[in-house]
Amino acid sequence: MDMKKRLVILWVCMVLVLGMSGSTRARARARPAIRIINFGDSNSDTGGVLAGAGLPIGLPHGITFFHRGTGRFGDGRLIIDFFCEHLKLSYLSPYLESLAPNFTSGVNFAVAGAMTLPQFVPFQLDVQVRQFVHFKNRSLELLSLGSGNFINEDGFHSAVYMIDIGQNDLLVALYAANLSYAPVAAKIPSFIAEIKLAVQTLYQYGGRKFWIHNTGPLGCAPKELALHAHNATDLDKIGCFRVHNDLAKLFNKGLHKMCKELRSLLKDAVIVYVDVYSIKYNLFAEPSKYGFVEPFKACCGYGGPPNNYNVKATCGQPGYSICNNVTSAIVWDGVHYTEAANSVVAATILSRSSLKLEQLT
Ligand SMILES: *[C@@H]1O[C@H](CO)[C@@H](O)[C@H](O)[C@H]1NC(C)=O
Ligand SMILES: *[C@@H]1O[C@H](CO)[C@@H](O)[C@H](O)[C@H]1NC(C)=O
Ligand SMILES: *[C@@H]1O[C@H](CO)[C@@H](O)[C@H](O)[C@H]1NC(C)=O
Ligand SMILES: *[C@@H]1O[C@H](CO)[C@@H](O)[C@H](O)[C@H]1NC(C)=O
Ligand SMILES: *[C@@H]1O[C@H](CO)[C@@H](O)[C@H](O)[C@H]1NC(C)=O
Repeated sequence: MDMKKRLVILWVCMVLVLGMSGSTRARARARPAIRIINFGDSNSDTGGVLAGAGLPIGLPHGITFFHRGTGRFGDGRLIIDFFCEHLKLSYLSPYLESLAPNFTSGVNFAVAGAMTLPQFVPFQLDVQVRQFVHFKNRSLELLSLGSGNFINEDGFHSAVYMIDIGQNDLLVALYAANLSYAPVAAKIPSFIAEIKLAVQTLYQYGGRKFWIHNTGPLGCAPKELALHAHNATDLDKIGCFRVHNDLAKLFNKGLHKMCKELRSLLKDAVIVYVDVYSIKYNLFAEPSKYGFVEPFKACCGYGGPPNNYNVKATCGQPGYSICNNVTSAIVWDGVHYTEAANSVVAATILSRSSLKLEQLT
């Protein structure tokens, strides 16, 4: 399906979804405070892996904006940080942050490296959801004791529940299968089933607004291109690994179908499927349109062209260097996007006339 068609379909879905939510929910009460409750991996981890695993992610990560390591993978802000700015919220505290967290704007359960499967392993999606159940329970319990400023039942009901996960499941499965398509494709339904279960559990605990990101074009990552020997037939027309992206697209198709199923199952819920893939893919396809150069070259790394990625000297390890102009790079460390790229992706999501995050909140 071409890009335009995909956008039109997304637009139509959004109009339907948002239109429904507007007409069925007469707002008698005052507009509740805006909150985001987020689940996922490094795409939206604002410090969870640092707090939870003690994994030090120091400079040069954070160099562009925070000027220190915050636990985010990247030179600066993530897509979710731009969402928070858009909604005039402070950045989300990780759930696992034990020292002075601030949950006024919501809470972030995302942890870098997280997957949907296997279950019961910190900090996979099911564990993040169980942490949420505890968080909610404990918040309500503390509120009933009259202590502090915790999210109440209304707050949990009106929050936007965001999920961005699946990328690591696909990559781990791809490596295990020596980059062959079929074994990974066979596992995708089990990944989707986990995400579906997460939404259903969150719904059961009062969540009604869901914002679900699909997965990006994994085959365009400099790390993937550097790590796996390839020839022209392995790549698509813009130079990304075909097998990675075909699987990402298959995953996204399943995720989209899951969203539609859940909409008919959970009739009073709003479920927004956000097509991040096409936005990110466009950056690689037409970099100059967005002010980017050398799309397949990591800004922070070692080895020079074409990918500036070496597994023995990744960003932050001895030997690495940083490109002259971080704002002209799409990918920061071979895997994670730069703040400049995240800013374009977030702005594109937010500017689509039908896709108004603030209408959800
Ligand atoms: C928490 O963040 C909010 C803004 O989102 C701010 O108004 C409040 O003062 C902060 N609380 C503390 C204890 O820092
Ligand atoms: C939630 O709290 C109730 C009592 O307040 C308790 O019975 C229940 O086991 C708790 N659930 C979880 C998952 O902690
Ligand atoms: C993986 O595939 C490559 C060719 O793409 C082949 O050379 C290599 O032997 C394979 N490795 C294993 C462990 O199957
Ligand atoms: C390209 O590599 C694949 C294995 O990754 C191999 O099957 C194919 O024959 C190669 N094509 C050419 C033109 O070398
Ligand atoms: C860095 O790149 C950005 C985006 O392409 C461009 O606007 C800016 O002029 C560049 N800055 C320098 C110092 O080259």
